[in-house]
Amino acid sequence: MPAIVVLGAQWGDEGKGKATDLLATTDPIDFVVRTSGGHNAGHTIVVNGEKYATHLLPSGILTPGATSVIANGVVVSPEALFRELDGLIARGVEVADLKVSANAHVIASYHATIDKVTERFLGKNQIGTTGRGIGPAYADKINRVGVRIADLFDEKILREKIDAALDVRNHLLTKVYNRRAIEVDAVVEELLAYADRLQPMVCDTSLLLNQALDAGQTVLFEGAQATMLDVDHGTYPFVTSSNPVAGGVCVGAGIGPTRIDRVIGVIKAYTTRVGSGPFPTELFDEDGVQLQQLGGEIGVSTGRTRRCGWYDSVVARFASRVNGLTEFFLTKLDILGAWEQIPVCVAYEIDGVRVDEMPMTQTEFHHAKPVYEYFDGWMSDISGCRSFDDLPKNAQVYVQALEEISGAKIWGVGVGPGREQTVVVHED
Ligand code: GDP
Ligand code: IMO
Ligand code: MG
Repeated sequence: MPAIVVLGAQWGDEGKGKATDLLATTDPIDFVVRTSGGHNAGHTIVVNGEKYATHLLPSGILTPGATSVIANGVVVSPEALFRELDGLIARGVEVADLKVSANAHVIASYHATIDKVTERFLGKNQIGTTGRGIGPAYADKINRVGVRIADLFDEKILREKIDAALDVRNHLLTKVYNRRAIEVDAVVEELLAYADRLQPMVCDTSLLLNQALDAGQTVLFEGAQATMLDVDHGTYPFVTSSNPVAGGVCVGAGIGPTRIDRVIGVIKAYTTRVGSGPFPTELFDEDGVQLQQLGGEIGVSTGRTRRCGWYDSVVARFASRVNGLTEFFLTKLDILGAWEQIPVCVAYEIDGVRVDEMPMTQTEFHHAKPVYEYFDGWMSDISGCRSFDDLPKNAQVYVQALEEISGAKIWGVGVGPGREQTVVVHED
C-alpha cells in the first residue's frame, strides 16, 4: 500500500493525529507528509500515556525512521516551525528527519497581523479563524505576491518580493484598517534569521515523493483541517483557505491521483466544530455540555471550546463522495458510553422537505434540521476493548449502523486517545 491519505471527514479535530501515528507505527512507513494548511492545525498524539501536539509538523516527526515532509501546498511559518521543533527536542524527543518544499509559501508575522485585523473588521460576521495568518498567506499566493521558501536564500529577491507583497497590503492597513504600515526591512530581517537553519531541510519534495513511490516505498499523507472546512467543498465562507480534501493532496504534494491507494476519512462518533458557521446537529443543551466535557473538546491550537453535536451521516456521505473514501476510521466511540440513547442524524429536513444528501446551497444548509434515528447506548467503559468482539453488543450495532449509512466501510474504531486504544473492524 504505497500511498495512503488520512483526512478529516467533518470540521476538524477528528483524531487525524492519532490515526496517522497509528498507521505510521503499525506498518513501516517511509514518509509522513503534510500537503495543506499550516500551524492552524492541532494534532494530538498520545504515546505511552505521554501527550504530544503537532501543529505544522507532520505527526511522523515522532516516528523514528520515517521522514517528515512539509510539501508545497503548506503555508510555512519558519518561526512556528522551529518553535515546534525545539519544543519537541526540549522534551527529549528524537525528532525524525524533516524535509521542506522549496515551493511552499511563507507565513511572516504580518500575515497573522492582517488575519487578526480582518477578523476584527468583520465584527459579528467573523470566521473565527485561528489568527495564524493562514488566509492572508494563501491570498498572497493566489494574488501572486507570495514569498516562497526558496526566496529566503536570496536576500535581493526576498526584499523585492516582500516589497511587492506589502505594497497593496500597507495601503489597506493604513487607509482601511487605520493601522501602522509594515516595514519591509523588518520583515526581511525576520525571515532571514531562519534561512541558515532551514536551508539543509529544503528540497524538491515532489521529486522526492515520486521517487519514493517509484521505489515502492510507503507514503502517508496526513490531512489537516477537514472536508467541511475545504474552501471549495466546505461551508463557505466559514472555511479555511486551502483544500483539505483528497484532491488537495495531489496538488499540495505534486503527485498524480493515480498514485493514491487508500483514502481514509477520520470521523468522530459525534461531531464538533470550532469557529463560526452552520452546524446542523449542534447541541445547545446538557448533552452538548456533556459531550464537550467527556470528550475534552478544547482546541489544541487556540484553546477554544469546541461546539458539539451528534453524528451527522449526511456529512459522512458527503465526505465519502468528495474524497472518494476507501474507508473511515471512527474515533472517540468511548465517549458515548454515558448515554442510554444515542441520536444519529440520518437526513435533514429543509423547509419541510426531507433531504438525504448535502444540499446544493449554503442557504439550504443553514436551514437544515437534523432527522434523527435513535440507537440504544451501551452505558459502559469500552476504553479497554481491543477487538470488535470485545465491544458491547449495542456498540457493535452502533458501529455497523454508521457503516451502513456513511458511504464507506469502517476500518477501525478508536476507544481512547492512546495508540493501542484501537479496535480493527475490517482487516485491509
Ligand atoms: P486532529 O486535529 O484531527 O488530529 O484531532 P485533535 O488532536 O485536535 O483532537 C482529537 C482529540 O481526541 C485528541 O485529544 C486525541 O488525543 C483524542 N482522541 C483521538 N482518538 C480518540 C479516541 O478514540 N478516544 C478518545 N477518548 N480520544 C481520542
Ligand atoms: P485540525 O487539523 C478545527 C477552523 C478555524 C476557523 C476556520 C478558518 O486540528 O483538524 P483558519 O485559521 O484556518 O483561517 O480558520 O477553520 N480551523 C480548524 N478547526 N481543526 C483544525 O485543524 C482547524 N484549522 C482551522 O477554527 O473556523
Ligand atoms: Mg486538531
